[in-house]
Amino acid sequence: MPVQISPSVLASDFANLQSEIEMLNASACDYIHVDIMDGVFVPNISFGIPVTEAMHKHAQKPLDVHLMIVNPDNYLEAFAKAGASIISVHVEACNHLHRSLQAIKALGCKAGIAVNPHTPISSFEEVIQDIDLVCIMSVNPGFGGQKFIENTYDKVRRLKDLILRKNAQTLIEIDGGVNLVNAPLLMEAGADVLVAGSFVFNSSNPIKTIQELKSL
Ligand code: DX5
Ligand code: ZN
Repeated sequence: MPVQISPSVLASDFANLQSEIEMLNASACDYIHVDIMDGVFVPNISFGIPVTEAMHKHAQKPLDVHLMIVNPDNYLEAFAKAGASIISVHVEACNHLHRSLQAIKALGCKAGIAVNPHTPISSFEEVIQDIDLVCIMSVNPGFGGQKFIENTYDKVRRLKDLILRKNAQTLIEIDGGVNLVNAPLLMEAGADVLVAGSFVFNSSNPIKTIQELKSL
């Protein structure tokens, strides 16, 4: 399967969100990555449910919603209603991960988890068959434009091994510092979906940059 691209609107021009979404509609991207930050789980605040809903009105690609928030269970229904297709909760924010995954699926969404750089694969190994997507954080969540953490390649390889061993259908997504240099190495390690924020939106031609990532 060709690599899937999920540009993060965190790096887009928030004063022109409609035209940014229309640009993504016209691009080769597969999803639109929506970064929700609450100022508690991560040291930054982005935007929330009404903005997600507003983007969904214009989006022709599925919304890939990354919840960097505490108590994510309390907001799953609201994000599903706002138009999320995939909802990823942080492993570190869930006391009952299996229950959260079932709750996401019951809302008709794909169930994802996101994993901080220091969190081991073993922390979700027992529920891998229930997970549609694992978002491996390749930076500490909270900000766009950070440096890619090199240990990610090895972590992706170990996750891919687990998925194959358990015969799971889980997709591997990489989030943070993705560019044209590390993308081919990530794909080789087993990545299925690449999130790219600043690399796409800070480029002179985002549509072309998305195409370049997509055709790797
Ligand atoms: C980090 C976010 C990422 C971020 C990626 O907290 O989860 O999705 O926007 O941005 P870049 O690609 O600039 O690292
Ligand atoms: Zn993200």
